[in-house]
Amino acid sequence: MNLTQRPRRLRSDPVRELVGETTLSASDLIAPIFVDATTDERVPIESMPGHDRVPVDESVTRVEEVLATGVQAVIVFGIPRSKDGVGTRAWAEDGVVQDAVRRITAETDATVFTDVCLCEYTDHGHCGPLEDGVEGDGSSTTAAGGNTAAGDEAATGHEVPGARHGQTLTVDNDAAIESLAQIAVSHAEAGAHVVAPSASMDGMVGAIREGLDREGFESVPIMSYAAKYRSAFYGPFRDAADGAPSFGDRRHYQMDPGNAREARREVALDVEQGADVLMVKPALPYLDVIADVRRKFDHPVAAYNVSGEYAMLHAAAENGWLDLEETAYESLLSIKRAGADLILTYFAEDVAERL
Ligand code: PBG
Repeated sequence: MNLTQRPRRLRSDPVRELVGETTLSASDLIAPIFVDATTDERVPIESMPGHDRVPVDESVTRVEEVLATGVQAVIVFGIPRSKDGVGTRAWAEDGVVQDAVRRITAETDATVFTDVCLCEYTDHGHCGPLEDGVEGDGSSTTAAGGNTAAGDEAATGHEVPGARHGQTLTVDNDAAIESLAQIAVSHAEAGAHVVAPSASMDGMVGAIREGLDREGFESVPIMSYAAKYRSAFYGPFRDAADGAPSFGDRRHYQMDPGNAREARREVALDVEQGADVLMVKPALPYLDVIADVRRKFDHPVAAYNVSGEYAMLHAAAENGWLDLEETAYESLLSIKRAGADLILTYFAEDVAERL
């Protein structure tokens, strides 16, 4: 054999590690946490083993657990004490996220991101007020969809039960972005370091930038969920945060999974409107999109390794079919290799402990 090229030469220790291209570190990771105003004890999230909804009183303890693993950043999601048609509790000064963030920033050194959206705060579960001023009514409009892991898939399409005159009912974009700006300002007032809008509304980043600047928060960055797909991988999250649409689905505002050029367009619009960090969500099924955003833009890129990506590895591991620790690490390393600088992941604590 006259082989001049033997890639295997570099695959033995101690050289292997020195020529490694990608490294993962705890400072790349952001841990999602769920704060619930409707409970005074921790409630395990069944479809996300190891994660709980915690009462506001335990939010600091929860963040201290994260910090103890070496992870320095959290993103806070809230479950409000009540919901209405427009999501009023999302921007309340004494809202669940606002209360938790005030405590966390006062008592810990964590870097605090907040999710800026309305779906957990509206009674119909959509990411903004409905068009035509129609008040949602969670109880009477549950015909399609429902709070299941496959909520999106169960939806019947664009025709929504409860829509008047048989017309399509969807979210009022321009009203939603005003509310989103108000939410972002209320989070910044509570001390959030970075706001992360996830509602997939047109003009949302610009409206938030304007709102923050007007209120003196010009140095609070925006991490935009810029390329956000209508994904069935969000199923477990909707149990965790109680934000499943009570009817219809999110295809009116989130992107179709088959579209990649559209992602570029969405990201470019968010850049124009002042986004500081660009997020792709979900992560593993969209590594091509992460790589594309990395190549096309010079902003930091974040990727959201979502609830379904977490749940499926746990389910397989539970059956003895996969090694959880190895597959979790490989997932995050691959997301990083594809081009993400930051990774939002429910594996943050477990993986950081191993690093
Ligand atoms: C919207 C939001 C969602 C997730 C994060 N922010 C739900 C959705 O878009 O339907 C999902 C995250 C996950 O699945 O882990 N507030």
